[in-house]
Amino acid sequence: MSVLVLNGPNLGRLGTREPSIYGHTTYADLLELCEKTGRECGVEVEVRQTDHEGEMVGWLHEAADRGCRVVLNAAAWTHYSVAVRDAASQLEQPWLEVHLSNVHRREEFRHRSLLSDVATGVVAGLGVRGYVLALRWLAEA
Ligand code: DQA
Repeated sequence: MSVLVLNGPNLGRLGTREPSIYGHTTYADLLELCEKTGRECGVEVEVRQTDHEGEMVGWLHEAADRGCRVVLNAAAWTHYSVAVRDAASQLEQPWLEVHLSNVHRREEFRHRSLLSDVATGVVAGLGVRGYVLALRWLAEA
């Protein structure tokens, strides 16, 4: 089984980006953690990050065509991108929306997600542990 872990804008700056909100774990650490979790679960995990919406849409098409499961942290696109929602809606395998922070206890504009009602499930507010739990769940689903 293959799982794509897809990260949207600004997540490549994890570790230096607003650490009081997103923590001190770097993107490189997150990548390593996801790959390690994949090995533990016997799942092939590939982690990607982009600041370009079209690239993310293309990766979601790829996941749909390959039948991959997906962990998606669409970051800011979560809150306004119909294009990312439409691409994610094409996934036929289970996929999880993940956020490091608890978006519901932050600014009001973060309370709305264009993804939650098309996702299989949502994990928010558990930091990088949320990715580990999402991967474990997808490995067993
Ligand atoms: C985020 C939450 C989003 O509101 C924000 O735009 C991000 C990261 C999170 O992981 O907590 O970039 O998706």
